[in-house]
Amino acid sequence: MENKEIDHISGTETTGHAWDGDLKELNTPLPKWWLSVLWVTIFWGIGYSIVYPHWFRGNEVIKGVFDWSSRGDVENALDAARARLAPQLAKLEKASLAEIKKDPDLSRFAVKAGEAVYGDNCVACHGTGANGVRPGSGYPNLTDSDWLYGGKLEDIVETIRVGIRSGHDEEKTNTMAAYGDDETLTPEQIKNVAGYVLSLSGETLPGADIKAGRQIYMEEAACNACHGDKGEGGATPGAPRLNDRIWLFGKDRIIDTITHGRRGVMPSWEKRGLTPAQIKAVAVYVYTRGGGQ
Ligand code: HEC
Ligand code: HEC
Repeated sequence: MENKEIDHISGTETTGHAWDGDLKELNTPLPKWWLSVLWVTIFWGIGYSIVYPHWFRGNEVIKGVFDWSSRGDVENALDAARARLAPQLAKLEKASLAEIKKDPDLSRFAVKAGEAVYGDNCVACHGTGANGVRPGSGYPNLTDSDWLYGGKLEDIVETIRVGIRSGHDEEKTNTMAAYGDDETLTPEQIKNVAGYVLSLSGETLPGADIKAGRQIYMEEAACNACHGDKGEGGATPGAPRLNDRIWLFGKDRIIDTITHGRRGVMPSWEKRGLTPAQIKAVAVYVYTRGGGQ
């Protein structure tokens, strides 16, 4: 700019823009310190994007100078955690259940590790903390003392390992017939036997002939062979108690259960890839939640 114009009031150079004739724009430069900070941040940003991963080539991230990544950080942390846990997991894997019970440190470790396994694998069906399960859903509450396949620690380990009707070679299973579907019993007989079943826990079913129901339960259909004479359950493994007001499939669905039968499926956690140590740990966790025998 050859002919600089200086505003005589402020002593500042003008840009040459004018509005309405006399109104002139002053050329006030940004303060030096401000500009320096701006340049520093720009260079810092460029440097940072070179040192740490930032740019892409196609779909691939170009690694930074130090080869650092946040995923790598997580992996390192996980490796460290695994290395820390390895000796205790190895000990847990080798320990007999009696030894775990006797060793307070190992039990505590098993419960902690088991809680994690439970949270990852069991909550969806059995509920949080092992008792958030909806009554009648077909998913047993694992904190009560009502066990289908035994509540000793050894039993729980085995159930979790092989599963129930899971397709595992050693699966636990016990099949209750579909008395209505295969026409072993008439709808009226089913109603009567359902009334008898309810009477075992002091409840009633309007219109059911309890005496006739008892005859079916004890003789004609021999329900007692699996559920016990008084509905105490467990005459064969997997047959639920019928006299405790705890209903695996729901009190309102008893007629349904007798008509169509039930086939509750619990996955085999050996097949699903849990290690023996993890299975032991989650069994100890379930066992200590309250209902273990
Ligand atoms: C061969 C053994 C067997 C016989 C016989 C048998 N059941 Fe069952 N019953 C079972 C099994 C096993 C279950 C659980 C099925 C499951 O978990 O999928 C069951 C479940 C039930 C349930 C559901 C309980 C609940 O908590 O929701 C009722 C009710 C029931 N049986 C009633 C009867 C009646 C009534 C008879 C006779 C007409 C009978 N059962 C005969 C094995 C048997
Ligand atoms: C897909 C749903 C599902 C998942 C996930 C699941 N379970 Fe089960 N579990 C069941 C069902 C259904 C039964 C009852 C089967 C029957 O009707 O006999 C059962 C039964 C059991 C039993 C036997 C209870 C008894 O009274 O004997 C134990 C123990 C058990 N589960 C533990 C676990 C553990 C531990 C996990 C996680 C590692 C787990 N379950 C994950 C569905 C599931």
